[in-house]
Amino acid sequence: MASASEILLLPGDGIGVEVIAGARRVLEHVAELSGFALSFDTRLIGGAAMRAGQPPLPGETLSAARSASAVLLGAVGDPAFDHLAPGTRPESALLALRQELGVFANLRPARAWPGLDAAGPLVPGVLAGTDLIVVRELMGGLYYGEPRGWDEAAGTAVNTLRYSREEIARVARTAFDLARRRRKRVVSVDKANVLEVSRLWRAVVTDIARDYPDVALTHEYVDACAMKLVMAPASFDVILTENMFGDILSDEAGAVCGSLGLLASASLGDGVGLFEPVHGSAPALAGRNMANPIGAIGSAGLLLEYGLNRPIEAAAIERAVGAVLAGGERTADLAGPSAAPLGTIEFVDRVVEALHS
Ligand code: IPM
Ligand code: MN
Repeated sequence: MASASEILLLPGDGIGVEVIAGARRVLEHVAELSGFALSFDTRLIGGAAMRAGQPPLPGETLSAARSASAVLLGAVGDPAFDHLAPGTRPESALLALRQELGVFANLRPARAWPGLDAAGPLVPGVLAGTDLIVVRELMGGLYYGEPRGWDEAAGTAVNTLRYSREEIARVARTAFDLARRRRKRVVSVDKANVLEVSRLWRAVVTDIARDYPDVALTHEYVDACAMKLVMAPASFDVILTENMFGDILSDEAGAVCGSLGLLASASLGDGVGLFEPVHGSAPALAGRNMANPIGAIGSAGLLLEYGLNRPIEAAAIERAVGAVLAGGERTADLAGPSAAPLGTIEFVDRVVEALHS
């Protein structure tokens, strides 16, 4: 038998711990059912590492990530460290990990789940048929640009928005390649009416599109795109955008589909992939068996698909989650006020049962 794929689990902070425990159970059952071997290692990251007296991204966590087959992360962020500067907060671990693993393309699928048409803020008919994917550039832009800093004496602060042709081209290729396997439409999102960086973005994406004559490319300003996401979400296929715009639009896409807790992501580059739910650590829900595990379970599915090249097993996970939702089961974020929601653990139990049936 082939040697086991090594999955590094980084539960991190808050509800990250609960949702990763659930995602791990699902992975274990899928591996058992399909007859392949997975091994798991768990390390500290973010606030959990800091509480143990370590830096947000401990050296041993980074080396375990580099040598893993794939990394499944929960969430980072802890209000106990809110007073710290950006570079020393729990979140800095995630930004450094993305950089160290070289994961420049962040895929964030969002869809209308059957039975959840009324769960989000939209009129059910508007959400129906929504099936989009945000491709967010993950290693550049305002998050990393230099110079940066807060000059207290001067009362000014600066961040730098900078992109190179190469950084734009590689993530654009990811988006076009994906579109080829979907409905063959890319909307590239920018602010080219104001920003030079966006004008470069638009020019490079237009160049790359010449290699994909079968894919239809359109451009949209970010403000118009944000509006269209609530007016006509089903009109999108692939949304390609830079780091900050992608952060914002993907939260919006999650809310539109019913809950941010639904959204999974895959961060891909040339090496080890990083898979994580789009939601944060949600400190108010932590430790209460209330978190929605679907985003983490979906991230485990993306890990199988893109990290271990097991699309069949990934599809089985998606079907199992769909079946549980179609049966009317809901965690608190999706349940109406009168319904009795399932806890995180119980929802995962149902998904595991659905996998076996
Ligand atoms: C996300 C998160 C992160 C980001 C934070 C925690 C640094 O919001 O993955 O969307 O902004 O990228
Ligand atoms: Mn975000």
